[in-house]
Amino acid sequence: MAKLCLCFLLVSVFMIHQVFGSTDPLDVSVLRDMYKSLNQPPQLVGWNLKSAGDPCEESWKGITCSGSSVVSIQLNGLELNGTLGANLFYLLLNVKHLDISDNHIHGEIPSSLPPNATHVNLSYNNFNHNTTFLLKPMKYLEHLNLSHNSLSCPLGNIFAGFPNLKQMDLSYNRLTGDLPNSFESLTNLNELYLQRNRFTGSPSVLEHLPLHNLTIQMNRMSGEFPKKLFNIPNLRFNVSLSKLIFKPIFVQGESSETLGQFMQGFSFYYFFQERKKSLRE
Ligand SMILES: *[C@@H]1O[C@H](CO)[C@@H](O)[C@H](O)[C@H]1NC(C)=O
Ligand SMILES: *[C@@H]1O[C@H](CO)[C@@H](O)[C@H](O)[C@H]1NC(C)=O
Ligand SMILES: *[C@@H]1O[C@H](CO)[C@@H](O)[C@H](O)[C@H]1NC(C)=O
Ligand SMILES: *[C@@H]1O[C@H](CO)[C@@H](O)[C@H](O)[C@H]1NC(C)=O
Ligand SMILES: *[C@@H]1O[C@H](CO)[C@@H](O)[C@H](O)[C@H]1NC(C)=O
Ligand SMILES: *[C@@H]1O[C@H](CO)[C@@H](O)[C@H](O)[C@H]1NC(C)=O
Ligand SMILES: *[C@@H]1O[C@H](CO)[C@@H](O)[C@H](O)[C@H]1NC(C)=O
Repeated sequence: MAKLCLCFLLVSVFMIHQVFGSTDPLDVSVLRDMYKSLNQPPQLVGWNLKSAGDPCEESWKGITCSGSSVVSIQLNGLELNGTLGANLFYLLLNVKHLDISDNHIHGEIPSSLPPNATHVNLSYNNFNHNTTFLLKPMKYLEHLNLSHNSLSCPLGNIFAGFPNLKQMDLSYNRLTGDLPNSFESLTNLNELYLQRNRFTGSPSVLEHLPLHNLTIQMNRMSGEFPKKLFNIPNLRFNVSLSKLIFKPIFVQGESSETLGQFMQGFSFYYFFQERKKSLRE
């Protein structure tokens, strides 16, 4: 009798499985929305809008599951266009990796990314955010890569919610404004890439971070260059002194206390003066 019951139970579970699919319905709804807003591209093999469509069961391209949850979305280099859709990523509670880099996706970056993700890569797309960039806290996020897009906005003061961020790449955009104060909360940040943007102000908010790579060349920063930043092993900056005493300075791969003292006393100050002069002209 007990055996019969167990058997009945298994059959029932199997049938429920068939009818309702095995993937968490919230995860399915997010992927369906994304599929629509990406213009239902044929490259997304297996993806469909059928009501019984099931990403985990049917092995949708780029989707990895654990149990009934989507845990990874890996869609890099698939020539995808369109947008990311209705900003439903906050429903993807089990997604750890989101990589949609190297496509042609445009529009805004949703302010709610998968809340428990550790790795997010949206680089090499056409995201063209033009209002203040906001992002909900992501307490497990370690790697964030938004490089090579067309973000032309200031960064909101958002970084207090990212205690585990180790590496952030915002390079090759058109980001504006001063670096927000909450950068100071990124107490695990080891690598920061900000080159080729339009950031202004002084990089002094970065002074106490445990950085070992920092690239800030090709921006519009000015003012004080904190001496402590010269202790970063891999530092790239470019203070454009070409019209004054030096050729543009480019330092990399060396900590240099002496240079630091020198730069703090002269170069950045001169850079600042030079810009002020050219603004008056
Ligand atoms: C967008 O992608 C689809 C599917 O790959 C393609 O058929 C379409 O031509 C693309 N549209 C543009 C504007 O590139
Ligand atoms: C994921 O995030 C949600 C909401 O932000 C939270 O309730 C949940 O506990 C998190 N899950 C894990 C495994 O951390
Ligand atoms: C996406 O970025 C992460 C680091 O931010 C990197 O490790 C990964 O290789 C990148 N993905 C691709 C396809 O380059
Ligand atoms: C960001 O991702 C791009 C590829 O999409 C990669 O070339 C670059 O190295 C990544 N940045 C970091 C810091 O890993
Ligand atoms: C900002 O982006 C929206 C849509 O992406 C666009 O309609 C608007 O013209 C843009 N505004 C500016 C100032 O570029
Ligand atoms: C970051 O620093 C490491 C050494 O700590 C170096 O090997 C690596 O090339 C650097 N990465 C970039 C993108 O500059
Ligand atoms: C430094 O800046 C100058 C002038 O803005 C530019 O021509 C040069 O390519 C830059 N060098 C580096 C390594 O960023």
